[in-house]
Amino acid sequence: MTNPHPAPGPGAAAETPGSTTSDGPQVPGPRRSGEPRRPTLRSDLRASWPDGLAALVITAAVFVLLYIRIRNETSSTVTVMPFMADADAFWLYFLSQAFGWSALLWAWGTVILGLLLSGPRPSRLPLSGPRLERLHRTTSLNTIALIAAHALFFGAELIRFDTAAWNSAVATAFVEVFVPGGYDSGTGRIAIPVGQAALYLAIPLGLLFYVRHRIGPKTWRVLHRCVIVVYVLSVWHTLLYGTNVWYDGWFRTGVWLLQLPIAALLLLRLLRPARRSEKLSGSPGASAGARTGWALRLGGRLAVAAVLVALVAVVASGRDGGRSVPPEDTSSTHNHD
Ligand code: HEM
Repeated sequence: MTNPHPAPGPGAAAETPGSTTSDGPQVPGPRRSGEPRRPTLRSDLRASWPDGLAALVITAAVFVLLYIRIRNETSSTVTVMPFMADADAFWLYFLSQAFGWSALLWAWGTVILGLLLSGPRPSRLPLSGPRLERLHRTTSLNTIALIAAHALFFGAELIRFDTAAWNSAVATAFVEVFVPGGYDSGTGRIAIPVGQAALYLAIPLGLLFYVRHRIGPKTWRVLHRCVIVVYVLSVWHTLLYGTNVWYDGWFRTGVWLLQLPIAALLLLRLLRPARRSEKLSGSPGASAGARTGWALRLGGRLAVAAVLVALVAVVASGRDGGRSVPPEDTSSTHNHD
C-alpha cells in the first residue's frame, strides 16, 4: 500500500522531482526543503501522525457508538452473543471491533489512493502527485497499525476472561489471535486465518517499499500489485465474522456498496494504467511467452470486470450472505457460527 512509482533502478535521475521517462510519470512533483530525497520509513512514520490521529478520533467515535448500541441492546453483537449485554465487562472487545472498523476504513482509503496513483488521475484532484503519494504511504502505515491494534485488543479481551494463570492465558491468547489455525471454533476457523493472512501480507507488501532500492523497483512493483489481496481478505473477514454486519440490513449492504468504487477504479487502473508499459497491447505478440503474458493480463481485466458485475448483482439483489437468525450457540465469543 505504498508508492507504485518506484525509481526504475539505481541512479538518482529517476528520483528527480517531476521527471518523466518514456514509460510515463515517475516520482512526481518538487521536493519541499528538508524533505529527504528518498522517502524513508522514518520520514513517513513522522509524517503519518495527522491521519493517524484522525484514525484514532474515528476509532473513539465508533467505540462510543458500539458501546451505546450495546447498552441499549440495539447492537446485533448482543443478539449473537447475549452475554455481552454487560457493556462495561466487554469494553475491550468493543474497542477491538472499533479498531477493526477504522482499519477497514483506512484500508479502503489507501487502496483508493493507490489506484488513483497507478491509474488515470482526475485532473482536478485537490492533491499534488507527491502529496497523494505520501498520503498513500502514511495511510498504509496507519492501516497496518490499526489492524494490529484490532488484533491486540481482541487478544487482551481473551486474556481478561481466561481463568488460567497469567502466562498461560497470554500464551493461549497469542496462539488464538496470531497463529493460523490456533483459533479452532465455528466460522472463526476460517475468519480469523483470513484476517491473519491480511495482516501478515500487508506488512511485507507495504513495507518492502522502503527497501525497493535493494530488491529492485521491478520486483517491488510486481509484489506491490498483489496488495489488493490484503484488502479483499479484510473485507471477506469482516463480512464473515463481524457481528455488527451479521444480519441482512443497510449496514451490511453499505459494506458491499463501498466495494463498487474499489472495483471500478481497479478496472480503470488496468485499462488506463499511468505507466505506458503496463498498457495491454492490441495484439498478443509472436512468442509463446508473450502470448501467455498477454492472455493472463487480458484474463485479469476480464476477471475484475466480472467482479464489478457480480458486486452490482449482490447489492441489487440483496443476496449478500447476511444471516436472518442469530447463531445456534450464543454462549461464547468463540462459537458465533
Ligand atoms: C490477526 C488478524 C485479525 C484478528 C485476530 C481479528 C479478529 C476479529 C474478531 C474476533 C472479530 C469478530 C468481532 C465481532 O464479534 O464482531 C473481527 C471482526 C472484524 N474485523 Fe478482524 N481480525 C483480524 C484482522 C482484521 C483485518 C486485517 C481487518 C481489516 C483491515 C479487520 C477488520 C474487522 C472488522 C471491520 C470486523 C467487524 C467488527 C464488527 O462487526 O463490529 N480484522 N475480527
